[in-house]
Amino acid sequence: MRFKGSTIFVTGGAGFIGSAVVRHLLRDTHARVVNIDKLTYAANLNSLPDAVGNPHYAFEQTCIREGSALRKLFDKYQPDAVMNLAAESHVDRSIDGPGEFIQTNIVGTFMLLQESLRHWTGLSAEKRAQFRFLHISTDEVFGSLGDEGFFTETTAYAPNSPYSASKASSDHLVRAWRETYGLPTLVTNCSNNYGPYQFPEKLIPHVIIKGLADEPLPVYGDGQNIRDWLYVEDHAKALTLVLENGLVGETYNVGGRNERTNLHVVEGICDLLDEFSPSPAGPRRNLISFVADRPGHDRRYAIDASKVERELGWQAQEHFESGIEKTVRWYLDHQPWWREILNGGYAAARVGLNR
Ligand code: NAD
Ligand code: DAU
Repeated sequence: MRFKGSTIFVTGGAGFIGSAVVRHLLRDTHARVVNIDKLTYAANLNSLPDAVGNPHYAFEQTCIREGSALRKLFDKYQPDAVMNLAAESHVDRSIDGPGEFIQTNIVGTFMLLQESLRHWTGLSAEKRAQFRFLHISTDEVFGSLGDEGFFTETTAYAPNSPYSASKASSDHLVRAWRETYGLPTLVTNCSNNYGPYQFPEKLIPHVIIKGLADEPLPVYGDGQNIRDWLYVEDHAKALTLVLENGLVGETYNVGGRNERTNLHVVEGICDLLDEFSPSPAGPRRNLISFVADRPGHDRRYAIDASKVERELGWQAQEHFESGIEKTVRWYLDHQPWWREILNGGYAAARVGLNR
């Protein structure tokens, strides 16, 4: 009977991870879910095929920077918890246009904290004790690792991109609202997610879609940058566990123990595409093209997830090799989902070169 009688606000619930959280909550728990999303370019309500008509689901098209609009939602739904996933999330876009990242990731989080605090302050003592604000952040706040070591919950913050600096700022605001006002907050920092319904600007869906079209596959720099891949449905389960059983004031690192170089990831996708959808043009590996590096490109991320594993009993179910196969198959089987994005004007062109 998980979350029976609870109302949970999920901000950014039409995005990649937010939609996985909404699908998981509706499928596996008894929560009433209110999806609060502005519907930016990255949003897609088609990522929630079973939500419409579900009596446990409501959608509100609202921007988290709008305090008065948020206040109406708190008054209307009286939530027991907030999961904050609304954000500008793409590093390359933050290089060309950092303003939206400052506004949504920092100012938006500030507004959400203020309205959560106002709501929380007005609750009964019992409800106040149960209320939770879970802020979803990233391992990019820790900066870049060398060849050795892992990010832990005590690693110092050292963000390098406008995106990660904006996320780091929001994490600090969340911490301050707990220390200063007592709002019961928790923070998670996770590694690179992949899986169904990811907007095709991110490496994995970008390469799948370009590869299917026999177009060049851009690998930034030497392709030896390392990311630590986490299957999105494993992440969604970790988040609801943290919400349910995490200790207020704690941070939890979430990662899949799947470090891979970008080149390894791209080559693996090429081989899967060749297997599932061979091209008359020949092997996809021939399409790999080394292109100009991302400015400020972090070299390596790797998460030590032992705290969330040990204290909350979470374990990633998906290994990278099984998860990437499922993901490639998903993009092959759900072409209308991503073709609508391409037909809607997304050009899949290189951005973030600071030119
Ligand atoms: P996404 O870009 O796919 O989706 C973001 C969603 O937020 C979209 O639906 C968008 O419409 C919504 N949104 C943006 N601005 C908004 C605003 N002002 N008000 C209301 N809604 C707004 O992002 P994602 O990949 O699902 O990431 C979700 C969260 O997880 C982000 O906070 C991100 O920083 C974090 N994160 C992502 C990853 C990853 O690999 N994708 C890894 C670590 C952390
Ligand atoms: O680590 C968590 C972060 O992971 C999240 O906080 C971000 O929201 C999310 O976007 C992701 O950031 P990255 O920058 O790591 O993801 P991206 O998919 O943009 O790039 C992954 C790696 O692949 C990175 O080293 C850059 C490289 N890359 C990316 C693209 C789009 C390429 O080589 N070619 C590409 O075309």
